[in-house]
Formats: sequence, C-alpha cells, structure tokens
Amino acid sequence: MSALAIIGGSGFTKLETLKIIRREVVHTPYGEPSAPLTHGLFNGRDVVFLPRHGTAHTIPPHKVNYRANLWALKHIGVTNIIGVAAVGGIGPDMAPGVIAIPDQIIDYTYGRDHTYFENDLSQVTHIDFTQPYSEALRQQLISAAHSANVQIVPHGVYGATQGPRLESAMEINRLDRDGCSLVGMTGMPETALARELELEYACCAVVANWAAGRGDGPITMVEIEKHIGQGMSRVVSLIADFVKLL
Ligand code: HPA
Repeated sequence: MSALAIIGGSGFTKLETLKIIRREVVHTPYGEPSAPLTHGLFNGRDVVFLPRHGTAHTIPPHKVNYRANLWALKHIGVTNIIGVAAVGGIGPDMAPGVIAIPDQIIDYTYGRDHTYFENDLSQVTHIDFTQPYSEALRQQLISAAHSANVQIVPHGVYGATQGPRLESAMEINRLDRDGCSLVGMTGMPETALARELELEYACCAVVANWAAGRGDGPITMVEIEKHIGQGMSRVVSLIADFVKLL
C-alpha cells in the first residue's frame, strides 16, 4: 500500500525509471479507472502510477472517468496525489516549456460526472474549495524543484476547459480576463473530486504551447508534443526529489 500516487497526463502515460512491482485492477462503484494501478518504486519510494488517458492514451479529457480514478486510489490507501498535466500558457510568464504549480482553478467544463455527493445522501454536502490545491503538497513540490534545480513558476490559475478541441482566441481572452494564466482540459473535476475524498492533491502543469491567439499562428500537435517531451523529463527529476521529501 502506497500513500503517494502520480496521475500522468498527455506525454506521461508511463513513469520512466519506475521499478514496477505489480499492477492492480480496481473495480469501483463508479465504473472502471483509466487503467490498472501500477505499484512501483520510484527513487526508492513506493509510488502508484495511473495514466489519466489510459495506457495507450486513448481516453479524451471529457471521457476520463475521474470519479473511478480518484475512488480507486483512495480505496487502496493513497493519501497524496500529484496530477501531472499538459496545459496551454496564457500569462506572459507561462511560455512553452515552463513547469507551473498552480494555486487556483476555474471550472469551465460541463456534462462531466463531477461529484460523489449526489445519490443516496444522508445529508447535502458542500465541500470547501477556497484553496483548491493542497498547500502542503504545493510547497513540497516547490522545495523539490529548488533541490532538483528545476526551474518552475510556483503559482498559476488553471482554467479547465471542456475540450477535446483547443480554444478560440476570444475564449482565451475571456479566460485571461477571468484571471487564468494556464488552460487545460483535465484539471476539473479531478481537483474537486480529490477534495471530496479528502485526498491531498496538487498539480504539476507543463506548458506545451502558447494558448490560442497568444503565439504565432495555429497550434500544432508537433509543437505540443515537442514541449511536452522536453518538459516531462524535468517533471520526472522534480518528482524524484519530491518523493524523498514526503
Ligand atoms: N488548451 C487546452 N488544453 C491544453 C492546451 C491548450 O492550449 N495545451 C495543452 N492542453
């Protein structure tokens, strides 16, 4: 049983250098998680890895079974989760290649199963979400970045959009006016569901591209994949130091 899980996003369907011990299939009351849970040793520590988009990266953001993923991790005893995510950069300090540890989030998604508190309730429950991310985990990620010598931006407002299409330039302008500095498609409901289950959760966001209208011309998958590839190797170094701090 391991207390730390990494949920990997695009470009992070497996955790390189994870010494795999076993794979565990968990069935949940909410359906099947994106993949079996992979138990392993990462830099000498127990870690569970779950690829958010499935082992073969075939589940788009709006089809991810976020409730099953978080429930399965809680069920096996996980208490801390780092959600790794590729995002677009909106703010001037969020250029492609940047790694950011967001501190706020705005939800623009719709039609996703976004709560555990809807059926068979003994009472209506409203969780506090003032600070959506675990500040303790955020600070540990920031310390790990310093010790691993990985440059990061230690803040950010994650605008969670529905996808799978990218945004229009005007949608990005609206997110900017709302205060978003990053845009991605998987931050919600993952972040809120973790809070509902009282799991410590923080996000490690890798900027893959300038958001729509912020760079030159259209956004290409080639550009996205290039920056994700470069960013993810630094995320692995950061997480390697992070697991030592937990
Ligand atoms: N928008 C939404 N999600 C993303 C982007 C983007 O520009 N880049 C990577 N994930």
